[in-house]
Parts: sequence; C-alpha cells; structure tokens
Amino acid sequence: MQLRVTSLPGDGIGPEVILQAIRVLEEVAGGFGHDLELDEQEIGGAALTAFGNPLPDATIQACLASQAVLLGAVGGPAFDHHPRELRPEAGLLRLRQALGAYANLRPAVFYPVLRECSPLREEVVKGTDILIVRELLGGLYFGQPRSIEGAAGSRQAINTMRYGEAEIERIARMAFALAQNRRKRLVSVDKSNVLECSRLWRDVVTRVAMTLVLKPAEFDVVLTENMFGDILSDEAGGVVGSLGLLASASIGGPIGLYEPVHGSAPDIAGQGIANPLGAILSIALMLRHTFHLLREAECVEAGVMSVLKGGFRTRDLARGGERTVKTEEMGTQIAEFVRLAAMTDGSSEGISASA
Ligand code: IPM
Ligand code: MG
Repeated sequence: MQLRVTSLPGDGIGPEVILQAIRVLEEVAGGFGHDLELDEQEIGGAALTAFGNPLPDATIQACLASQAVLLGAVGGPAFDHHPRELRPEAGLLRLRQALGAYANLRPAVFYPVLRECSPLREEVVKGTDILIVRELLGGLYFGQPRSIEGAAGSRQAINTMRYGEAEIERIARMAFALAQNRRKRLVSVDKSNVLECSRLWRDVVTRVAMTLVLKPAEFDVVLTENMFGDILSDEAGGVVGSLGLLASASIGGPIGLYEPVHGSAPDIAGQGIANPLGAILSIALMLRHTFHLLREAECVEAGVMSVLKGGFRTRDLARGGERTVKTEEMGTQIAEFVRLAAMTDGSSEGISASA
C-alpha cells in the first residue's frame, strides 16, 4: 500500500520526537511491505522564521496532496508577543481548518508498568482507558467577534463561544460511534449553561476534572468542546503518568492530522531528552485511522509496551533513581521491535500487546 505522509516537525521538541516517530514509520513500511512517500514542510515558529507565515502555502499544498499529516508541536517563547495571526499556534489552527479535522481523538491509557508515574494510587487509576473526543473547529478558538479593544489601562478582551447545531451533531455522532466499538459509555461535558460567568465555568471544569481524577476508570469516551477538550486532555496525561505519552488524531475531513498532545516544551528543547512515545503512538493512530492497517498499528503499540516493560524510561517517566534513556534511544528500541516483529510476522500472534 502507498502511504503518502507530510511531516511537520515544527518547534521546540517537535523535531526531536518526529525524527523518532518517522524512524518507526519507516520500519513499519519496510517491514510490512508498504511504500512510504514522505514530504517534510515547515509550520509554526519554524515557518514564521523562514517565511514570515506560520502556515505557508507550500505547507498547505503538501498536506492537501498527502493522505495523512504528522505534526510535532508549535510554539515558543520567542513569539509570545506576536499578534495572534503571527503566532505559531495560528498556523496549527489554520491547518486544522484547512483539513476539516473537526474531531480530535485523544486516548489516555494507564499502563500498569508505569504505575509509579501516576499521582494516583494504583487501585484508583487501574483500568483507565479514556478516549477524549474533542471538538476541534469551533467554540472559543474560532468564534467571532474576538478582540482586545480600548486604551491602555481600560482595555477589554472579547472571545465568543459559538457552536452551530450541525457542528455539535457531527462530533456527537463520531463520539457515539467510537463508544459503540469500545465499552459503550459516553460522558458529555456540556458547558452551555455556565459560560456567562467565568467562575461558574471554572467550577464546572474543576468538577469534571475532579470526577476524572477520583474515578478515572469509570470513563470510556469523553465528548467535549474545543477548550474543555484541551484542558481535560492535559489532565488525562497527568492521570496516566505523563503528558509525554499522549497521542492524538484529528479526523473527520479527507486528510487526518496526527500529533502528540504535549506541545513544544521549550524548557527541554534541544537536549535530546523529550519523550517520543506520544509521537510514536500518533503513528499508530495514523496507521489505524487513515490507513486502516490494524496489524501495523498494533505492532507499534506493542513496541511501546514492550520497551516500557523492558524498563526504558525517558526523564518524565523515570521514578526513584530509575535509569533514563534519551529520545533517540527510545526511538531506536521501538524501531528495532517493529523490525523484528515484522520479520516474524506471518501470523501476528507474537506481537499482540498485553497490559
Ligand atoms: C493542543 C495544543 C493546541 C491547542 C495549541 C498549540 C494551539 O495545546 O493541541 O492541545 O490548544 O489546541
Ligand atoms: Mg493543549
């Protein structure tokens, strides 16, 4: 099968984790007999620096000409004072729109082997396997009007949360369909009755977050709008041990967009210590949702499991004096697993993941 993928490493730790994810994807393609066509382009701060535009036309064209897009991260302190349209994040938001990727799937799974990483006791977090379904093209992120107006000292800021019926319906359908193939439990996080008052808003966010934190194993699919999905998925990362583990798929349009949830992490960029598992697990989501290559997706996930069982830990996952490995070593281990698993494939029994 032909796999036409555009890779957008972006900013901060983005290039470091994408490098490892691509190595794994190349092993999958080589090992399982697929023809991988990769095109690398700029986005975010990297594109701003090179072209003065966080989403150059060449990048959009390349993405639209491919079947799936793999993105690292966007954002960095150098751009903090740029106007909104000239921030790295604007590039990502425009890309999501251009791809029609309205459904952002963010799985958060607890691995018993990482029990020490969760702030929760094992009996509380055990069994946690949540799929956050975040609406990605509406709400506060895109609503009009939006502005900061007035003279210094008396400025006013406005954002608008806006959703149309059709927008809500399509994401709800998607979430129910996903729940149907899982444990059939869906929790919808609805804020329409609280957004007029930010204190109430915070109350509700906190209450939902508290429920997640107190009984994380009770949730299956969590359906929520754009802003709450952003917050809840960061919290879910904390619950399962590290935000560095979380992968995401943004689907619903003709081309899927796959990215780790962690962001650009400028504080550790360039040190080679970032956790590449979120990016590598995003490859698994790409193989499953865009290419429908289930065996290949399971092989990558089994690789992550196996490497964690083997005791390999990046710094975010290491506890109590555990030896840490660097980003590249983690990638090497998983690429090697995939290479060997693909060689012995024939029957895929040998590579199924088990918690
Ligand atoms: C995410 C990120 C983005 C978002 C930023 C970088 C625009 O935080 O994917 O969760 O808020 O959607
Ligand atoms: Mg976020």
